[in-house]
Amino acid sequence: MMVPTIFFFLQFSTLLYFFTVSFASIEEATALLKWKATFHNQNNSLLASWTLITDACRDWYGIICFNGRINRLNIANVGVTGTLYDFPFSSLPFLEYVDLSMNQLSGTIPPELGKIKSLEVLTLGSNNLSGPIPITLCDLTKLEILNLYSNQLSGPIPSELGNLKNLTGLALSDNQLNGSIPITLGDLIKLKVLNLYSNQLSGPVPSELGNLENLTYLALSDNQLSGSIPISVGDLTNLKRLYLHSNQFSGPIPGELGNLKNLTGITLSYNQLSGSIPITLGDLTKLKRLYLSSNQLSGPIPSELGNSKNLTDMDLSANQLTGSIPISLAQLTELKKLYLSSNQLSGPIPSDLGKCKNLIDLRLGRNNISGSIPPEIGNVQRLQGLFLSSNHLIGQIPKEFGKLTSLVKLTVQNNSISGNIPEELRSLTKLETLDLSNNRLNGSIPTCIGDFMHLFQLNLSNNKFGQKIPKEIGRITHLIVLDLSHNLLDGEIPVQLTSLLDLSNLNLSHNGLSGCIPEKFESLTSLQDVVLSYNELEGPIPNNKAFINASLEGNKGFCGNLTGFQPCEKPSSHTIAKRRKLILIILLPVVGALVLLCVLFGVLFMFDKRRPKDVESRNDDGTIAVKRLHSSVENTNPKSFMNEIRALTGIKHRNIVNLYGYCSHAQHSFLVYEYAERGSLSSILTNETESKKLDWLKRVNIIKGVGFALSYMHQDCSPPIVHRDISSSNVLLDSKDEARVSDFGIAKLLRPDSSNCTALAGTYGYVAPELAYTLKVTPMCDVYSFGVLALEIIKGKHLGEYITVLANSTTIDHVQFSDLLDERLPYPEDELKEVLVFIIKLASSCLVETPKSRPTMQFISHKLSTMFHVHQLM
Ligand SMILES: *[C@@H]1O[C@H](CO)[C@@H](O)[C@H](O)[C@H]1NC(C)=O
Ligand SMILES: *[C@@H]1O[C@H](CO)[C@@H](O)[C@H](O)[C@H]1NC(C)=O
Ligand SMILES: *[C@@H]1O[C@H](CO)[C@@H](O)[C@H](O)[C@H]1NC(C)=O
Ligand SMILES: *[C@@H]1O[C@H](CO)[C@@H](O)[C@H](O)[C@H]1NC(C)=O
Ligand SMILES: *[C@@H]1O[C@H](CO)[C@@H](O)[C@H](O)[C@H]1NC(C)=O
Ligand SMILES: *[C@@H]1O[C@H](CO)[C@@H](O)[C@H](O)[C@H]1NC(C)=O
Ligand SMILES: *[C@@H]1O[C@H](CO)[C@@H](O)[C@H](O)[C@H]1NC(C)=O
Ligand SMILES: *[C@@H]1O[C@H](CO)[C@@H](O)[C@H](O)[C@H]1NC(C)=O
Ligand SMILES: *[C@@H]1O[C@H](CO)[C@@H](O)[C@H](O)[C@H]1NC(C)=O
Ligand SMILES: *[C@@H]1O[C@H](CO)[C@@H](O)[C@H](O)[C@H]1NC(C)=O
Repeated sequence: MMVPTIFFFLQFSTLLYFFTVSFASIEEATALLKWKATFHNQNNSLLASWTLITDACRDWYGIICFNGRINRLNIANVGVTGTLYDFPFSSLPFLEYVDLSMNQLSGTIPPELGKIKSLEVLTLGSNNLSGPIPITLCDLTKLEILNLYSNQLSGPIPSELGNLKNLTGLALSDNQLNGSIPITLGDLIKLKVLNLYSNQLSGPVPSELGNLENLTYLALSDNQLSGSIPISVGDLTNLKRLYLHSNQFSGPIPGELGNLKNLTGITLSYNQLSGSIPITLGDLTKLKRLYLSSNQLSGPIPSELGNSKNLTDMDLSANQLTGSIPISLAQLTELKKLYLSSNQLSGPIPSDLGKCKNLIDLRLGRNNISGSIPPEIGNVQRLQGLFLSSNHLIGQIPKEFGKLTSLVKLTVQNNSISGNIPEELRSLTKLETLDLSNNRLNGSIPTCIGDFMHLFQLNLSNNKFGQKIPKEIGRITHLIVLDLSHNLLDGEIPVQLTSLLDLSNLNLSHNGLSGCIPEKFESLTSLQDVVLSYNELEGPIPNNKAFINASLEGNKGFCGNLTGFQPCEKPSSHTIAKRRKLILIILLPVVGALVLLCVLFGVLFMFDKRRPKDVESRNDDGTIAVKRLHSSVENTNPKSFMNEIRALTGIKHRNIVNLYGYCSHAQHSFLVYEYAERGSLSSILTNETESKKLDWLKRVNIIKGVGFALSYMHQDCSPPIVHRDISSSNVLLDSKDEARVSDFGIAKLLRPDSSNCTALAGTYGYVAPELAYTLKVTPMCDVYSFGVLALEIIKGKHLGEYITVLANSTTIDHVQFSDLLDERLPYPEDELKEVLVFIIKLASSCLVETPKSRPTMQFISHKLSTMFHVHQLM
């Protein structure tokens, strides 16, 4: 009930002042206009409202007056390029609130700023201001919030800031400030937030900071602070977050931290802290995140940590911890990440860890852990990463691992694991990295490895695997690293390995492989590092530059056009004939099938010429759709075709079109999709009758569907997928008018280790503005397109230039609600209207120019799914 009261109050006061003074003081307005005249970008559309002929109090963007005098100035994130030098410091004596954040203000902060004595809130964050923090800021004794974060400010933090006794928030983070933290900051006893991270601050943390009894948030991370963590930190009983990581702190972790019962997060990683982990940390029952990695902590992991039952992330890796993993950690049922790697932990892996059902990432590598791997780990079915390398583990890989169907990375290398790879592992189809090297595994390499379609690193080296290399490995099309060296493999190198078009490192050395290297290795352009030494291979060396420096020694004898090798003799006519026959046997059925297929599509083409690019062929059960990629240059791009397949084969979601299969041929490539009965959203919206059938509820549902699909792709897929071409043509509707996102032709997988820059692509009118100058693909590009699309669905057509207006309005009151609605539908009433207003606001927030300021798809889909009214209506 607060909001209406305040609202009423504002209304009332506005009314009041209309009767007293009708215009803002002319001097104030003129002074601001003089400043505006110095902006480097004059036709900033937002500030177009700032003119002499309008009333600053009533008509100017970002201005709020009180009693006819300018009281608040908020022009955050409006794209101002300029300086503060001509800001009217002396002409705005009633200014209490200034927010100029997220613009492109450069130059220094003028000392004259200290003249605006009335200031209570000053926010200049996320600009390009440089030079020192002027001491005159300390004259602003009424200041409650001072935000100068994310600029290029340098020099020391003035100790005079200690005068600003009314400060509750001080954020100087992400600058180049140096020197030490002034003791006087301990005088700011009302402070709730102190943010100094990412600077070049050095020296100790003054123990006086312990006076800040109301502090809830203290972030000093990423500096060069040294000395020990003051014990007085234990007096900050209201503290919720303590961020001290990436400094040079030494000495012990004060046990007094255990007094801070409200702490939810502690980060002390990347320091030189020593001594043991205080058992008092177990008293922090609200603690969710504990990061102590990369220090010199010793002694055992206190079993008391098992009492911090709300812990979700615990990182103690890269220390010198000893003893065994306490069984009490199994009480941490909320735990998602447990990192204990690179310590000296001994004893077995507690089987009770299988009770931590929420674990996603378990890292125990590089310790002295012994015993066998408990089968109970197979119960942790959300596990995506399991790292057990470089320990002394014995026994077999538990067949229960077959239940870990979410697993993306499994590394067990450098242990003493024996036995076969269990058949049950065939269900781990999401694996991207599988490293079982340096163990005592034997038997044959299971053919099911060919089902691990997402694998890009497969290392089975230094084991005792025998028999042939399974040809199924050739199906793992993304494989980049394949290491099967130091085993007992025999037979020939399967020709199927030459389908691994992304393969860069290939090591098959120290086995008993015989026969020739398949000639088709010639075509593997990604190949860089080839090691085939110590086998029984012979014959021609493939004509591929990777073989020039390949290790080939210790084989039967190679020939070829390389220095140090005999030139090859022409193969005898006998072998040629044999080869021809073989080719014919393979080719005939393939060609036959292709001819049939092409005839089929040729016929379909003649009857169905409606869509020039995509052809949807309907078979009579109406169940599949076929998309043909045209033979023009852009569409036969094999990369785009493969992108679509990669993106789609990995995902299953009710709002994403199902891919059934594909077929690729020199001229044409076809994708076989689930058929979406109603066709594309754009064709429905442009059709008078069809669009009327798509009522408001259906449209809201479509927007939700697209939102859920994108959130799934960004959040739940690993690596995340950015669609990059969200538009009404690429959203299909099924028979129940449910949305199905389709056309992943330019989708991009955001692999953390690769550059995410690509050429500009997408559909005009939906492409995020930043892509015009940076080619960096982020999920935020889809968020922008989603905003455009959502508004299009409500309006019934693309909003065109109107998008810019919406992007820049903080409230949609600036625009007529009714202008944004599809006139072909009845005007929405009551709850429905509220829902549409809500969606329009949400969609508008997706259109802001700064990608970082847009909401994430996860946030959007959460908002959409919790729209209470819609559930009621549906
Ligand atoms: C000003 O507006 C014109 C036309 O609207 C545009 O071409 C020009 O780029 C704009 N200039 C700046 C500095 O924004
Ligand atoms: C920020 O200011 C510095 C000078 O202080 C300048 O070199 C740099 O180009 C500016 N950066 C941007 C993004 O304006
Ligand atoms: C600090 O705040 C208090 C209460 O809000 C107020 O009474 C006092 O005047 C302020 N101090 C200054 C110097 O403005
Ligand atoms: C702070 O940085 C300036 C250069 O920006 C340097 O002259 C000064 O010595 C530094 N002060 C400290 C205490 O490191
Ligand atoms: C700390 O906060 C409490 C509750 O908001 C308030 O009563 C108290 O005055 C504050 N202490 C200081 C030193 O401002
Ligand atoms: C912790 O937080 C609660 C609720 O936010 C608050 O009531 C309490 O005063 C805080 N401080 C301590 C020491 O518990
Ligand atoms: C643990 O977290 C839950 C939800 O986040 C909260 O309700 C509960 O109070 C927390 N437990 C403690 C001991 O703070
Ligand atoms: C590793 O553990 C074994 C017992 O399992 C012990 O004998 C050995 O000393 C430990 N090594 C180290 C480096 O801690
Ligand atoms: C293998 O593990 C041992 C300890 O078990 C370690 O000393 C060695 O460095 C590890 N080797 C590799 C290659 O990681
Ligand atoms: C031998 O190598 C040379 C240069 O590397 C190349 O021009 C020539 O075509 C090669 N001959 C054969 C038969 O591959």
